[in-house]
Amino acid sequence: VQTVPVSFPGAEYQITIDPGLLSRVGQELRKLSPSKSVAVLTDSHVAPLHLATLEESLKAAGFAPAIALIPAGEQHKSLSMLLPVYDQFLIAKIERTTPVLALGGGVIGDMAGFVAATILRGVPFVQIPTSLLAMVDASIGGKTGVDHTTGKNLIGAFHQPIAVFIDPLTLTSLPPEQLQSGLAECIKHDLIRDAAHFQQLPELIDRVRALEPDALVSLIAHNVAIKARVVQADPFERGERAHLNFGHTFGHAIETVSSFSYSHGQSVALGMTAAAYTSQKLGLIDESARAQIVRTIEHTGLPIHGLELDPARILETMKFDKKVKAGQIRLILLQGIGNPILRDDVPVDLIVEAIASLR
Ligand SMILES: NC(=O)c1ccc[n+]([C@@H]2O[C@H](COP(=O)([O-])OP(=O)(O)OC[C@H]3O[C@@H](n4cnc5c(N)ncnc54)[C@H](O)[C@@H]3O)[C@@H](O)[C@H]2O)c1
Ligand SMILES: [Zn+2]
Repeated sequence: VQTVPVSFPGAEYQITIDPGLLSRVGQELRKLSPSKSVAVLTDSHVAPLHLATLEESLKAAGFAPAIALIPAGEQHKSLSMLLPVYDQFLIAKIERTTPVLALGGGVIGDMAGFVAATILRGVPFVQIPTSLLAMVDASIGGKTGVDHTTGKNLIGAFHQPIAVFIDPLTLTSLPPEQLQSGLAECIKHDLIRDAAHFQQLPELIDRVRALEPDALVSLIAHNVAIKARVVQADPFERGERAHLNFGHTFGHAIETVSSFSYSHGQSVALGMTAAAYTSQKLGLIDESARAQIVRTIEHTGLPIHGLELDPARILETMKFDKKVKAGQIRLILLQGIGNPILRDDVPVDLIVEAIASLR
């Protein structure tokens, strides 16, 4: 068992990582909540795989669960999909003390968190992430919300959970391309915070892709600790939390311009490759560091080239990124592995060259 304590202004809780934990969530939650009722949100992929285990465990601990289900996929991460969820939970007589549980990937975590933040003006929230991306990234930091037709995550709230329960064995049912998406964020975390761990990453990734339980626990605990450390130091996104954007300014633009035919993880992989290229051209890192970064991304099965999109269109989209300030593109670059730096003075020509290098 690994536990990572998290402390935010007004919120203290633990992230627990333990193979088989899903079948013990009921008894663990009982230590935190005297409630009789509990509300669960999950999606149509995860429900047939993991809901029965959770339900049984909740009932064994004396909880009466109300369950709401949403069709899987980012396209359903909308306010309109939540209206029947509010109906169901309110008709089931949810109370101020009823915990809302998210069982699923980042989409479900963000949506259930938003329900927990808003229903009855806020009830306790519990994350049970089942995708690697949700475990190492989305479940930590308290951002919740849904998409709007004009953009991603535009409606939301900050709402911290009372606990995060991670069962690494749920990853055995995760499609390999979804595992890769989470690995892109793990590479990012080491690149911005842990050069020593980055050296061992390819070997650990091999064991993770073979779903070795020890390797899963080790990778998840390491990454949860990094993300928690960064967001705790900057809970309201005024400073160092921006480091988490490494690879993402390029990446978000690639996602958008490709009309999401590149997944988030694939786009971030290409984005990190372009950011490493830019860092090297500016003399912040040497060629061997750049090559090592690219090798590690490629080793994970993520793309490092083959991008056929027009660099000028990607540049235009980068200018509209919500983190752009006064028209200047702000990039997180590396001045060494593990050592990020924010730059808003990168010549536009170099940005275009970096994108073109992804061909
Ligand atoms: N709140 C934050 O700070 C934060 C950070 C990063 C990302 N996000 C959000 O997270 C979302 C992406 O998360 P995601 O990649 O987990 O997407 P997701 O929730 O859509 O999950 C990916 C797919 O895997 C399926 N799945 C999940 N767990 C499974 C399992 N154990 N077995 C089989 N299938 C499983 C899902 O049903 C879905 O089809 C985005 O909406 C993004 O905005 C939020
Ligand atoms: Zn990301």
